[in-house]
Amino acid sequence: MDKRKNIVLIGFMGCGKTTLGKKLSQKLKYNFIDTDRYIEHKEGTSIAQMFQDKGEAYFRDLEKNAVEILSKEGGNIIATGGGIIKNEENMCMLKKAGIIVYLKSTPEHIYRNIGDDVTRPLLQGDDKLSIIRRLMEERKSLYEKYADVTVCVHGGDVNHITEKIEREVNKYNEKDLHNTRAKS
Ligand code: S3P
Repeated sequence: MDKRKNIVLIGFMGCGKTTLGKKLSQKLKYNFIDTDRYIEHKEGTSIAQMFQDKGEAYFRDLEKNAVEILSKEGGNIIATGGGIIKNEENMCMLKKAGIIVYLKSTPEHIYRNIGDDVTRPLLQGDDKLSIIRRLMEERKSLYEKYADVTVCVHGGDVNHITEKIEREVNKYNEKDLHNTRAKS
């Protein structure tokens, strides 16, 4: 098994977890896994269809199941769904298995990225910007609570932000190593 700690990306829908995660995985030579795609592959259907046919609670169970399995592996960059932080058990498992990187954004940035997306079940309605604002306000403190590292992703291009994530992860790991040595 790959002994390297996972790098777990959390953040609001459309903040760039998949794009940045893929880029980072190429740079660091990690595998890339997206929990949503993992669930869709296992179920043989889309997230949107799952929400429609079986409801959010059903999806959240599958999400927890995916986290349980993926937390047992190492050396992965794991892009999570935006609602992963709603379940404390998920975050405990992910924290044990990796470093949690919060990709922080603004409602306006999210709206620019996915304002015209019709596939996200929690973003249905005419006034998408208001929905984004409300959901982000509800979840902000949870993202902050679980983050080991926070990187702002609004402004700057993908390469620049990817380098920023790499730098912050390295800084965190060095500090962590230092603390571990100081304790022993
Ligand atoms: C969700 C975010 C989605 C997906 C599902 C629920 C959420 O993932 O998991 O639609 O609760 O924020 P993305 O963050 O990749 O859009």
